[in-house]
Amino acid sequence: MIKHERIEKNSFLMLILILVVVSVGGIIEIAPLYYLENTIEKVKGVRPYTPLELAGRNIYIRDGCYNCHSQMVRPLRDEIERYGHYSLAAESMYDHPFQWGSKRTGPDLARVGGKYSDEWHVAHMLKPQAVVPESIMPGYRYMFETPLSVHDIAEHLRVNRVVGVPYTDDMIANAAIDLIAQATVDGDGEEALMKRYPGANVRDFDGKPGELTELDALIAYLQVLGSMVDFSAYKANENLR
Ligand code: HEC
Repeated sequence: MIKHERIEKNSFLMLILILVVVSVGGIIEIAPLYYLENTIEKVKGVRPYTPLELAGRNIYIRDGCYNCHSQMVRPLRDEIERYGHYSLAAESMYDHPFQWGSKRTGPDLARVGGKYSDEWHVAHMLKPQAVVPESIMPGYRYMFETPLSVHDIAEHLRVNRVVGVPYTDDMIANAAIDLIAQATVDGDGEEALMKRYPGANVRDFDGKPGELTELDALIAYLQVLGSMVDFSAYKANENLR
């Protein structure tokens, strides 16, 4: 008792001891995340973004879509019924920075991939009110008219590699070629692209086959969101229960 009185009467000593106690708890909770191999469970199907998808993601961030859209389906019944399977940690493991967001002026986009056709996205991005009359989302027509800048895409891959995305030398060397191959329909380079990024969508996304625009990249990104993991396979195995 006497000893404790000394602590309570000496605020500096008390502060030091509080810090010690709190940091013990903190270390026990936080430290394992840095060395455990399974902090993020590997999930089949999750791959790094293709250069075109990454370019689209950069536009998404540049234009602040996250100010109105989240990208995380929380494990709550109403969300799962509306958006689909709750988000897995692995699904955003290659997102630097992640786009979970916290503002939902518009719907969550974590599983928007494959929900609409490319044509719907083009019409929606040009003028949201053309497809959803009551929408308050602004139009982004300039993306349809702005050529996509390709020259620095290899650098974007390289920077992602620095923070842990497993882009190989091969992927970085072919970044610009892969980017163009994904948005063109002539078949050139498609096989190599698919080998590097299994399951990638290869097509003209913005409805202007001869032109590579910012909208090509943005729609390629939107169409892959939440579509990498095949949940029907997991349900059969009961692995995610
Ligand atoms: C001012 C807020 C706001 C901003 C900024 C915004 N959106 Fe939206 N977005 C909305 C709202 C509200 C909706 C729902 C109505 C609609 O479909 O237009 C929506 C809907 C969408 C949908 C359809 C989702 C679905 O499941 O039906 C997509 C895709 C989308 N936005 C993409 C984007 C992208 C990409 C950007 C950035 C370039 C963006 N939004 C910026 C408010 C916003």
